Amino acid sequence: MEDLIFESGAISTITINRPKALNALNRAVLEEITRVLRDVRHDASVRVLIVTGAGDRAFVAGADIAAMADMEIVEGLEFTRLGHRVMHTFEELPIPVIAAVNGFALGGGLELALACDLIIASEKARFGQPEINLGIIPGFGGTQRLPHRIGHARARELIMTGEMFDAKSGCEWGLVNKVVAPDQLIPETRKLAEKLASKSGFALRQAKAALRAAATMEEDAGLRFEQNTFGGLFACADKREGMKAFLEKREAKWQHK
Ligand code: HXC
Repeated sequence: MEDLIFESGAISTITINRPKALNALNRAVLEEITRVLRDVRHDASVRVLIVTGAGDRAFVAGADIAAMADMEIVEGLEFTRLGHRVMHTFEELPIPVIAAVNGFALGGGLELALACDLIIASEKARFGQPEINLGIIPGFGGTQRLPHRIGHARARELIMTGEMFDAKSGCEWGLVNKVVAPDQLIPETRKLAEKLASKSGFALRQAKAALRAAATMEEDAGLRFEQNTFGGLFACADKREGMKAFLEKREAKWQHK
């Protein structure tokens, strides 16, 4: 599919490729992402996934407004549910997902970035939930994930005013992990991806699951989840190898299990 480019490898990349519409997400693109994520999930050789947008103007400027303009209630509901399934699938992937935000990340675009584990942003990136200006509200998870990520006060202000913010603010608020010059976005993102790919994939998977629990569980249940997950790792090859390698003062050779 032309609107989505998938480059497969240990570090795989999904590029939303509708630059003329600032990479707006329509149903076809969301369905294609679903298909690609299913393949990624079942391919053990993929260690890290990068998500980005084509061109130099946008990551994703939101859900496709032209497509939504003609939708009635049933289509609207189906569209939000499809988007939610996609965002949930990103969160449930057993590998780290990095959003490389090159430009506008608005509405569904910010919601897509929020479903990723880490966000690297170009100095030119602009974020926001401008849905209020269209007479709607965020519909791919933003009303829930944004307050979790940056706190209720700021999320309320952003969703109610629809105002945009820059990468530097995103970094100060704990949304963005790193801000880089535009020409450094992909090299810096790949550098981070390579660092992650050098870890035990199995331990990373458990770390991601436990970090997810922090967002989805009550604290008591989350703390129990951590204990059980931690304990489980002691039955695994990578724990034995990691500690043995440390004691023998050498690099660990991960089996990812
Ligand atoms: C469809 C879009 C689009 C979008 C931009 N375009 N955003 N098309 N859906 N979300 C198209 C424009 O129509 C235009 O097409 C082309 O991309 C370039 O955009 P311009 O507006 O000409 O560029 P510029 O003046 O630089 O302004 C950039 C912008 C603006 C500030 C990003 O495009 C904008 O405000 N876009 C909408 C952002 C938004 O409201 N996103 C939230 C959507 S709702 P033509 O053919 O004229 O060249 C949403 C809900 C999610 O995401 C949940 C759903 C269930």
